[in-house]
Amino acid sequence: MRGIILAGGRGTRLLPATGVISKQLLPVYDTPMIFHPMALLMSAGVREILLISTPDNLGAFSALFEDGSQLGISVSYAAQAEPRGIAEALIIADDFAAGGPVTLALGDNIFLGGATAQLLRNAFHRPVGATLFATPVANPQAFGIVALNSAGEALSIEEKPRNPKSSYAVTGLYVYDGTAAAIAASIKPSARGELEITDVNNAYLAGSKVFVETLPQSETWFDTGTPDSLLEASLKVRKLETETGRKIACLESIALGAGWITPDAVRAAAQRWSGSAYGRALEREATVAHALERS
Ligand code: DAU
Repeated sequence: MRGIILAGGRGTRLLPATGVISKQLLPVYDTPMIFHPMALLMSAGVREILLISTPDNLGAFSALFEDGSQLGISVSYAAQAEPRGIAEALIIADDFAAGGPVTLALGDNIFLGGATAQLLRNAFHRPVGATLFATPVANPQAFGIVALNSAGEALSIEEKPRNPKSSYAVTGLYVYDGTAAAIAASIKPSARGELEITDVNNAYLAGSKVFVETLPQSETWFDTGTPDSLLEASLKVRKLETETGRKIACLESIALGAGWITPDAVRAAAQRWSGSAYGRALEREATVAHALERS
């Protein structure tokens, strides 16, 4: 499975914090926001990732992740010249996806609790259609909203409805079959001038090809597009890290656990991030992994 992370946009609601830096590079407690979708895709076993951002910000992302080999993955980059809509990512990624299935993750969506990666893996086994990941929210006017029947099947999907038919938000994580780019290329911009991902999802729904996974209650989802949600996500990450003693969105740890990199690569990353709690966590992890190798 190949994965796209969409990390462009203007970050308007976070100005001036996003005046000269991409929203997806702002910290969620102790790591850049972008570590979260990266960690999610990696945890689901995705090793080929295309990161799409604005022309101005691509350099910063590639300085951070390079070609991905230090994480045992491949990271490539593409520019979205203007924020013409989330669905445009599927068109930009057409060559990358090479006609195959693809996962799209929005760079500002954060899933905490660990269950979503497994749901994602399950979705990869579906040969056709679109899989969406939904969760109840208090403010359904702010999201794409899916109404479900008693069997959990999608009845309707509406973008930011005035009168929501349900409280289930469609989160910024999507798994599509190989027809997604063609569908995205066929839709027209919405009233706000964007190629809407909800229109792509509705095209799948028209063919009865939408599957909805609802997140378990143990999972907390954040769209970190506002100062309040960014702060709440940071506080939640801090709480979870304090409770478990483990770093969240620790990319090298995921790669080591998957067998994609060696303890030496973890140590190299610990050097890169030395002086931080993240670096110290990697150092400890490398030491334990080396000891296990020797035993
Ligand atoms: O967060 C989930 C929601 O994301 C869904 O429930 C909605 O259906 C979906 O439309 C989207 O709504 P938002 O209003 O949150 O989308 P926003 O314009 O904030 O864009 C989401 C992310 O994608 C954000 O990090 C910026 C990035 N983006 C967005 C657009 C429109 C791009 O990189 N390029 C774009 O053209």
